[in-house]
Amino acid sequence: MAPMSALEISGNDSEKKASPENLSPVESPETLAESWSNINISGDGLKPRPDEKALDSISSKNGVSFSGNITGITDEKDIKSSPEKTDIKTKSPSGSNSGGGENGDSGVISNNLNGGGKTTSVLKPSPSVGISLDNFLEVPKGKSGGSVNGSGMSLMDEAWELLSGSYVWYKGQRVGTLAAPETGNEALNYNQVFVRDFVPCGLACLMKNDADVDIVKNFLLKTLHLQGWEKRIDNFTLGEGVMPASFKVIPDPVRKKEVLQADFGGSAIGRVAPVDSGFWWIILLRSYTKCTHDYSLSELPEVQRGMKLILNLCLSDGFDTFPTLLCADGCSMIDRRMGIYGYPIEIQALFFFALRCARQMLKPEHDGKELIERIDKRITALSYHIQNYYWLDFTQLNNIYRYKTEEYSHTAVNKFNVIPESIPDWVFEFMPLRGGYFIGNVSPARMDFRWFLVGNCISILSCLATPAQATAIMDLIEERWADLIGEMPLKIAYPALEGHEWRIVTGCDPKNTRWSYHNGGSWPVLLWLLTAASIKTGRPQIAKRAIELVEQRLAKDGWPEYYDGITGRYIGKQARKNQTWSIAGYLIAKLMIENPSNLLIISLEEDKKIAKPKLTRSASWTF
Ligand code: GLC
Repeated sequence: MAPMSALEISGNDSEKKASPENLSPVESPETLAESWSNINISGDGLKPRPDEKALDSISSKNGVSFSGNITGITDEKDIKSSPEKTDIKTKSPSGSNSGGGENGDSGVISNNLNGGGKTTSVLKPSPSVGISLDNFLEVPKGKSGGSVNGSGMSLMDEAWELLSGSYVWYKGQRVGTLAAPETGNEALNYNQVFVRDFVPCGLACLMKNDADVDIVKNFLLKTLHLQGWEKRIDNFTLGEGVMPASFKVIPDPVRKKEVLQADFGGSAIGRVAPVDSGFWWIILLRSYTKCTHDYSLSELPEVQRGMKLILNLCLSDGFDTFPTLLCADGCSMIDRRMGIYGYPIEIQALFFFALRCARQMLKPEHDGKELIERIDKRITALSYHIQNYYWLDFTQLNNIYRYKTEEYSHTAVNKFNVIPESIPDWVFEFMPLRGGYFIGNVSPARMDFRWFLVGNCISILSCLATPAQATAIMDLIEERWADLIGEMPLKIAYPALEGHEWRIVTGCDPKNTRWSYHNGGSWPVLLWLLTAASIKTGRPQIAKRAIELVEQRLAKDGWPEYYDGITGRYIGKQARKNQTWSIAGYLIAKLMIENPSNLLIISLEEDKKIAKPKLTRSASWTF
């Protein structure tokens, strides 16, 4: 986290503010600025797609169009809809929105409450993959979750109250959520709307009983508007498609208006642009469309253009010999130096997910057809590359251990010339006979064998992992429960870098010491990804067991950002309290486990047309 100073960008009212480095961002195209203010979330000018007649579309009070059926942007016909989705409201979830009002001030709630009780549960084997969601019985809606906090309030209610307290307002509309409430004079930037942090919050709003769709739509449009600004760091201009890492609404009492300030990496630690922001934006846009059937948003010319700009950044020709995306360290959720540079699985999985989501939403008109062809080719190449070269299980580890080196020509088995002596000792211990995972990074003579949660779960949700690989990933989580889940879900990465390696790889980062923060810390927000992956692979009991752990402590500890220690027992050294995505992560985990059809809002079906690799089978694949 860094103080936000280097690149300051004003809002759409021609308010420009020079940064200390004399940056002078230019005004964004007026068309989008206009469309933002003109796009009345009350629905003016947004018409439902004519071919939606079959759907039981209805309009909410303020005119946002949606349907009662959550199925089918494309061919996912066989999935049952959730009848409750017809009851979409556009009001905030509780009347107690302390997050602001007409003056647009954003506010926060600070709360520390008690909960307790420790239970354990036993895992039952459930090897089915790609289980039909029809098999899930929908539980009745209503106040959910038996767990209560120290005040007798249900944890879900407490979480909703805190979430609604984090809303950020701009010109009288909710446009996002604060990363965490401000707690003092700390010059940290948690008092902003982070794009990646908003994703679980937006999903919670979409998945709740009376879906709250406006905030998601506002967020998507506001960030799209920010994308349109010229972004400069010193004398260098970033690509047009780059989405902000975060933005902030600043009230200007003198001119009686609100000003926006955005960060595209120019004020982030290490000055790295957030590669994940644009991907998350596309993924959330697809979730919004999937949930609401409001195609008019994704079909807006500005939205189509925004998607294309993001994709152009990643699909342009260059010197690449791999279909993976070359990244700098710190360009994702792990936004500090952690040896993630190269081709990190976290980004490759999000890239794949975003490509498949965009494929569903892009219109072929104008240059769209050519772009769609490029996307199709990249999806095939990327899935082949990741499924073959990133996959590690017992058999593959043994293969790599016996690799020959210095092989030339296309017949080489050891394509990246990985030297077996570079395999770290811990992997041999860690690798179970049953299970496997996508390793962190693959590049010439380098395999980063670390486990990363986001990359592996996103691979399952996007079907980058084959069904057999998805099963094996869940097997590995069961087999290595103590290491990856421990006392508080979930390890962001495993294992931690220590000693000399920590010094070299992190540059002696005092925040990322061993088993802390990004370096083997445990992040409650990741619970939602585990839950989604568990349901998708037909293993909801894995998620239930993790949720039980979270319910024992998270609210009692004040919803911290992260936990420290080998088993995640200690509240993180510098962890914020009431961290919004910790709250939202719990909410959507519960909403999905209680109504598994909510998974469809964030998960993709397998595309049979994407070529599957011919891999040797290891022990894990025979289960
Ligand atoms: C930290 C995290 C980053 C998150 C931000 C806001 O910088 O590393 O992933 O987006 O805080 O919560």
